[in-house]
Amino acid sequence: MEFAKKYIASPEQKTIKIFTCEGCKQSVEQKELTIPIGPMKGERVIANYGCKCEDLELAEQALQASFLQKQRKLKLNFDYYSLINESLKRATLENFESINAGLHEAKQKVLSYIDSFDKKQNLLFTGSYGTGKSHLSVSITKKLMEQGYECLFLSLPKLLTKIKQTYNKEGITEAELLQVIQRVDLLVLDDIGAEQRTAWSNSKLFEILDDRAGKSTIYTTNLNSRELKNHVSERNFSRMMERTNVIVMNGSDYRRREFKSDK
Ligand SMILES: Nc1ncnc2c1ncn2[C@@H]1O[C@H](COP(=O)(O)OP(=O)(O)OP(=O)(O)O)[C@@H](O)[C@H]1O
Ligand SMILES: [Mg+2]
Ligand SMILES: [Zn+2]
Repeated sequence: MEFAKKYIASPEQKTIKIFTCEGCKQSVEQKELTIPIGPMKGERVIANYGCKCEDLELAEQALQASFLQKQRKLKLNFDYYSLINESLKRATLENFESINAGLHEAKQKVLSYIDSFDKKQNLLFTGSYGTGKSHLSVSITKKLMEQGYECLFLSLPKLLTKIKQTYNKEGITEAELLQVIQRVDLLVLDDIGAEQRTAWSNSKLFEILDDRAGKSTIYTTNLNSRELKNHVSERNFSRMMERTNVIVMNGSDYRRREFKSDK
């Protein structure tokens, strides 16, 4: 067919029929023609003119390839800039076990958060140690990166240490890090309250929250709301609670589940 198309100017062509192609919805003229030169000279072939199916197929393939490339880039950037524990890197929504009603409810809230991500809401996971707050946060970033959103996961204590380090070392600079923090569609700020509380840490947190006004952020903490307010200062707390749904996750420590099988 490709070959035949090149001989569009052949005088010996005749129209067989004109129809609308089901694939591309274009009006297509089907012609019979004689190949004028080359090894197939004199042969009669049938060709469809006006059909855009091949072009559409190519365009679709190009789109898919560029989306895959985008997903890969998002994942690479996430791995490069995130400050996250090894054990959490494997966390997914699929391997999260809803072992009690509370966790089941938390997972449902997470699913609806992902579904309505474009509404630019924030989440605050609060509760005791090892209940899956960070696990669910990582899971959300994975699902959203599949959809093409740029995400970043930062443990706040690690971030503050990193910022201090980059003041006098090479590598990622504070300015670069802050730029990524400001840019991403979703930032997870993990373990708020585990960092040392100083005027400096509170002002860094303020800078981050202020830069991200209008964008989605997920917070996790062991602190209850009163403690959190005291820890981050009222000014930061008020920013953190704007458009924020709270998910309380209390219960037994998943990290220690193997040790509590005393019957
Ligand atoms: N329901 C669960 N199903 C599967 N794995 C879980 C579950 N809950 C926690 N885990 C795993 O247990 C470990 C601890 O969970 P995670 O880090 O999410 O707890 P956390 O609530 O963030 O605790 P902390 O308050 O100490 O930060 C992680 O490796 C996580 O993948
Ligand atoms: Mg955690
Ligand atoms: Zn077609």
